[in-house]
Amino acid sequence: MCGIVGYIGKRDAAPILMEGLHRLEYRGYDSAGIALAHAGELRLAKCKGRVRELERLLPSRFKGSPGIAHTRWATHGEPSDRNAHPHCDAANRIAVIHNGIIENAAALRARLESTGVVFRSETDSEVLAHLIAAMPEHSLDEAVRAALRLVTGTYGLAVLDAARPEAIVAARNGSPVVLGIGEREMFVASDAAALVRHTRSVVYLDDGELAVVRADGFETATLDGGPTAKIPSRITWTSEAFDKGEYTHFMSKEIAEQPEAVGRTLSGRLDKRFQTTHLGGIELAAHELLDIRRVKILGCGSAYIAGSIGAHLIEQLARLPAHAEPASEFRYRNPVIERDTLYIAVSQSGETFDTLAAVQEVKRKGGRVLGVVNVVGSTIARECGRGIYLHAGPEVAVVSTKTFTCTAVAFALLAIHLGRIRDLSTADGGRLLTALAALPEQISDIIAREDEIARLAEQLAGCEHAYFVGRSAGYAVAMEGALKLKEVSYLHAEAYSAAELKHGPLALISPETPTVAVVPRDDLYGKNISTIEEIRARRGPVFAVTHAGEMPVMVDAAFVVPASEPELDPILLNIPLQLLAYHVALRKGCDVDKPRNLAKSVTVE
Ligand code: AGP
Repeated sequence: MCGIVGYIGKRDAAPILMEGLHRLEYRGYDSAGIALAHAGELRLAKCKGRVRELERLLPSRFKGSPGIAHTRWATHGEPSDRNAHPHCDAANRIAVIHNGIIENAAALRARLESTGVVFRSETDSEVLAHLIAAMPEHSLDEAVRAALRLVTGTYGLAVLDAARPEAIVAARNGSPVVLGIGEREMFVASDAAALVRHTRSVVYLDDGELAVVRADGFETATLDGGPTAKIPSRITWTSEAFDKGEYTHFMSKEIAEQPEAVGRTLSGRLDKRFQTTHLGGIELAAHELLDIRRVKILGCGSAYIAGSIGAHLIEQLARLPAHAEPASEFRYRNPVIERDTLYIAVSQSGETFDTLAAVQEVKRKGGRVLGVVNVVGSTIARECGRGIYLHAGPEVAVVSTKTFTCTAVAFALLAIHLGRIRDLSTADGGRLLTALAALPEQISDIIAREDEIARLAEQLAGCEHAYFVGRSAGYAVAMEGALKLKEVSYLHAEAYSAAELKHGPLALISPETPTVAVVPRDDLYGKNISTIEEIRARRGPVFAVTHAGEMPVMVDAAFVVPASEPELDPILLNIPLQLLAYHVALRKGCDVDKPRNLAKSVTVE
C-alpha cells in the first residue's frame, strides 16, 4: 500500500528518494510524488501512475534537501495528480506525506474551510498540511504534535517545512515508520526496503511516537512531548534480495527461492537429540505450553490459509484442538478469549491492519499471542513480542509464495514442538524431522519440472472458471491454489472441500469448468477418487496434483509430487499450484508482480 521515504543530509535528496520509491513499488500504489526544500521554498512534483512517470516529470535540475516522497494507494479520492501526495498548505511551505486514514477528516476539513482554507484535493491527508500550518506553535514538531492531537485515525507520516529545513518530522499511529541512521544523514521510510541501499541501522517508531529527524541524528517523543528512548537494530536483508536478478518476475524468483528459504526456516531448529524442535523465540517454557488446551490461528488471505494448514498440523501432532480464522472477522464478533488458548497471529509483512487489530483485541482481553512473521521488527512481530520468524528473505511480489511455504513449515516446527511435550513419540518426532530436512530438495525437484506445469497452464488459461478441490489439509491447499490463480491471472477460481462439492457446487460442473484436484495418497485417497468420479460423470475436466502410482480413475492431466510424510504433504502439493498460477497469468499477459487492485501489505481496514 502507500509508501513513505524521506531524506535529510548533505546529498541531493531527489535521486535517493526516487530510488526509495522504486523499492516501495512492490507494495502497490496508483500515484507518486516528491517534495524538496530548496532555498526556503518547496519544490513539488506528483502525478497519477507509476514512479517512472514521476521521474519523467522531474525538471533536470530538481535539487534540494531535505525531501520527502510517497507512493499512494487510493482510499479517499480517486487516483489522480491532485490527490497524489505530498499535500501542501496554502503558502506551499509545508508538505505532508501520509499513510493511513484520518477518520475525522470531514469535520476537520469543514472547520478549516470555515476559516477560508481552500482544499486542492479530495484526500483526507490534506487536512494535515493545513492543520499544521494553522498551528501557532513555534517549532515544526510542536505544530505537528498539536495538529495530531486533533486527529482521529491511523497515520504514518513525514512532514517537511521549506522555511525550516533543518529537520523532517515523522510520526506514527497504526502505520509503520522506520528511521534509517546514516553517516551524517538520516532516512525516514514506511518499509526498510527503501533503506537497504543506504544503511542497515534502523529504529522503528512505536504507535503514538513522533520523531524529529536531523542530518546528524534524531529525537523521539510521545505526542505529549515526553522523550522516548530507542535502541537501533540491524536489518539483515541485502539490497540484492530486492532485485529480480536473472528472473523476469519477482513471483518466479520467489517460487524458485523456496528451497533456500525453507532451509533458513528450518536452520538451527531441528533437535535430533530429543527428536523435537528448538523455537527460542516463542519464549514459553514446556510447563506453560503444557497448560495450553486450544490453539486459535489468525491471519488474512494466504496467511490465514497457511494457518489452516498449521491448525491441521497442530491437531494431528499435538492432539490439541486448533482452528484458523480470518483475522479480518475476528474482532467484530466479540470473541471469547480464553486463558488456556494459545493465539497465533500469522503475517508475512507483519503490517496487515486486520491481523494487528486481532492481536490487539486478544491482548486487550488478556490472551496470550505469538506471531509467525517474516519481517523482523515489523509491527505485528513487536506487538506479539514473541513468536517464530520465517527468515524467508524479503518477498517483493504482491502474491505470497515462499512465505506461504515457510509459514506452513514454521507451523510444522511448532506442531512437533507442542507434540513432543505431549504424546508425539520419539519415533514420530524423528520421522518428521527427517521429512522436514528433505523438503528443500523435494521442492527443488518440483520446480525443476516447471515445464510440465506450463503445459498444463496452457489448457487452463483459455477457461473462464475453475474449481479447486481437496479434503482436510488438502482443502487448504486447494484454497491457496484458487487464491493464487485469481490474484495473478484474474481467472475466476473457487475452492471447495471435495466433500462439499455434491452439496451444491456440483451443479456448475461442465466440460467448460475444469477442476484442479488435490489428491495425496493418504487415508482420504479413496474418497478423493470418488469426488473425481462425480466430476468426470458430469464431463468436467480434471487436473490432479497427486503422488506417484496409477490412479484408478481417468484424469485429463496429473502432476506427480514427491511424497513426504502425510502430515507434511500439503507443503509440497502447494508448490505446483503456485507455478500453475504463474504460468496461467503469463499466458494471459497479466502484470504478475503487481496484480490489479492488490497491495503487498494491506495496512488499512
Ligand atoms: C497473498 O498472495 C495475498 N496477497 C494476501 O492474501 C496476503 O496473504 C494477505 O494480505 C496477508 O498478508 P500478510 O501475510 O502480509 O499479513
